[in-house]
Amino acid sequence: DWTSESFVEQTVSHLRHKLGNDRVVMALSGGVDSTVAATLVHQAIGVNLFCIFVDNGLLRKNEYEEVLHSYQDMGLNIKGVDAKDHFYAALNNLTDPEEKRKAIGRSFIEIFDQEAHLIEEVKWLGQGTIYPDVIESVSVKGPSATIKSHHNVGGLPDFMKLKVVEPLNTLFKDEVRAVGRTLGISENILGRHPFPGPGLAIRILGDITAEKVEILQQVDAIFIGGLKKWDLYKEVWQAGAMLLPVQSVGVMGDERTYESVVALRAVTSVDGMTADWAHLPYDFLAEVSNDIINRVKGVNRVVYDISSKPPATIEWE
Ligand code: XMP
Repeated sequence: DWTSESFVEQTVSHLRHKLGNDRVVMALSGGVDSTVAATLVHQAIGVNLFCIFVDNGLLRKNEYEEVLHSYQDMGLNIKGVDAKDHFYAALNNLTDPEEKRKAIGRSFIEIFDQEAHLIEEVKWLGQGTIYPDVIESVSVKGPSATIKSHHNVGGLPDFMKLKVVEPLNTLFKDEVRAVGRTLGISENILGRHPFPGPGLAIRILGDITAEKVEILQQVDAIFIGGLKKWDLYKEVWQAGAMLLPVQSVGVMGDERTYESVVALRAVTSVDGMTADWAHLPYDFLAEVSNDIINRVKGVNRVVYDISSKPPATIEWE
């Protein structure tokens, strides 16, 4: 019978034998899979695991600092890399969603390759691949999968020559969470909603600028903070806000203003393949909408997305 305790025990001893004194490099995303995978490898080989956490400038508000601190608290050998400018430059003037995704994937590889080169004699690439990623032909989840799906863009990066270690590749998501609990990883990380690798870039419709990212971060923080405050965070599978490329009219005193519209999206789902819009309470939506309009400069209208998947996707791009 599978138990998370025996899985941890066997996997750690297995990794210890397999990796010996070798060095492993791993990109962490702040998500459940990469965190659990890194913790297992860390238990096996300690400081020979070199973790890299990249700030692509497309994360949620304060996410980079908070996640980096929790990794440090967990004792991981982690290096934070501020690469915001690199990503913004690569995204400059791009509006097509797939072009944006490719630019982000490429940038990530450039940064990761550069960082991996700084580690002497690294032999392995650790990845948080889980079983559903293995069976999906084209995986679109997180930085680790980004490495795989974009490895042929612009030649083969050196880290692609590394041997791959994927301690979670036989597990389903709920098993990964159970393993994470056994390892003592905080609920803060284990209970997180999924968040797309390209981050806020696919929630800002049209071109990306640092100013738009900042507006969306404020909106998103109010929405997600509200869900937590109202005890609704765990009721939904995923939630976020979209910044629309639309200016709508508003009034300020006697003046008409033209400012941005944001759409809030929250869904219930089991695996993200199908999803229903979350029937959030009107009082909650009213409070969040007021907060956003009163507090976020540049936004004068909030709408709630009531589309289900299919045919609507969870993301707007
Ligand atoms: P959709 O929008 O296709 O999203 O209904 C399903 C799930 O996948 C996430 N998603 C992505 N994740 N890279 C990612 O790592 C992407 O390009 C991407 N596009 C969508 C989305 O957030 C949802 O969880």
